[in-house]
Amino acid sequence: MLRVAIIGLGPIGNVHARHYGEHPDCELVGVCDILPERADAAAARFGALPFYDAAEMLRTVKPDICGVCTGGHEYGSDHYAPTMQALEAGCHVLGEKPISNDVAEAEKMVRMARERGVCYGINLNHRFTRLTGIARQWINDGRLGHVLFANMAMWIKNPRESSPWFQLKALHPHTIDVLRYFCGDIAAVQCFVARAPGRQIWSTAHFNFKFACGAVGGLTGSYDIERGHPMERCEVAGVAGRFVLDDMMYRLTWYPANNCEKTVINNTPFGVIPEKVFDDTFKNRIHRFIAQVSEGASPEDIEASGADGLAAQRVIEAAIASVEENRVVEIPIPNDVF
Ligand SMILES: NC(=O)c1ccc[n+]([C@@H]2O[C@H](COP(=O)([O-])OP(=O)(O)OC[C@H]3O[C@@H](n4cnc5c(N)ncnc54)[C@H](O)[C@@H]3O)[C@@H](O)[C@H]2O)c1
Repeated sequence: MLRVAIIGLGPIGNVHARHYGEHPDCELVGVCDILPERADAAAARFGALPFYDAAEMLRTVKPDICGVCTGGHEYGSDHYAPTMQALEAGCHVLGEKPISNDVAEAEKMVRMARERGVCYGINLNHRFTRLTGIARQWINDGRLGHVLFANMAMWIKNPRESSPWFQLKALHPHTIDVLRYFCGDIAAVQCFVARAPGRQIWSTAHFNFKFACGAVGGLTGSYDIERGHPMERCEVAGVAGRFVLDDMMYRLTWYPANNCEKTVINNTPFGVIPEKVFDDTFKNRIHRFIAQVSEGASPEDIEASGADGLAAQRVIEAAIASVEENRVVEIPIPNDVF
């Protein structure tokens, strides 16, 4: 039985706590938030001990796995301190995205996990769907042939006005991770930004990419569009055909080259509510981390690892430099060197 503790009990920390609590191989032993009312409410809900200080919780309950679900500036500034505390305590850590809003701090966390020999994963949950796995297998099997290009888009409404780069840093860990999952490291980026009327931050952006494998790609993202229709689309094309993933978890379509027949795989049986489908991406991701830790997976084999989270953040930093300096920015490959 793995002992699990969660730090940060906002809406997302509560989702993590629920999925660990419902897993047969886990016992949720502690929940910690600096806001006592949040820690107390989660403790009552999940039957775990409440704490208001992460160091005290780590000392007292000695978890095997620590979920870090803090947020902060640009949704990532508060992850660093509790993640370092949990890694130093020898815990395996599954943190929320972005790994950090600060690349230097992200590097320190990845380095600390390596020094301690513990598993460090990030909740890059958009790659943990059945359809995403099928599409990745098609690439592994050579079904696409030589991969040529990828195009992705993601849009939701997030009216929060904070840093000018909030949309790039908080939304695009997901999209860039999915593109890296399909096409590998990104070697160069060029970025353009826009905003909806009345907004102060760069709430819409478009990126052009050059992948290390030689493929090219594009990504459009926005915090300016209400959901109601699908919020995400990813297309990857090779010489033998292309696939389109709608919303990562709803529909996967295969368009073979030189052939008029397409194959459509729907993930959701009629009547399944969308919230349940999205919740399953958290469940899939958390269950995969638990499975890898249980199997004694080597830290470098962790899927959607800290190093992957860091690589995505480096692409975002390069995109910001591209906007500020009005140029194409190259990114050193491999992405996980210090
Ligand atoms: N993977 C996804 O699909 C997805 C979706 C939405 C949000 N997120 C991410 O989840 C994270 C949390 O989001 P949220 O909306 O629940 O945020 P939130 O701000 O509501 O909750 C974070 C909580 O962490 C607590 N906290 C901060 N520092 C702490 C510390 N040192 N010790 C203990 N508690 C501390 C805060 O008091 C707060 O209650 C963010 O990083 C966000 O980017 C991920």
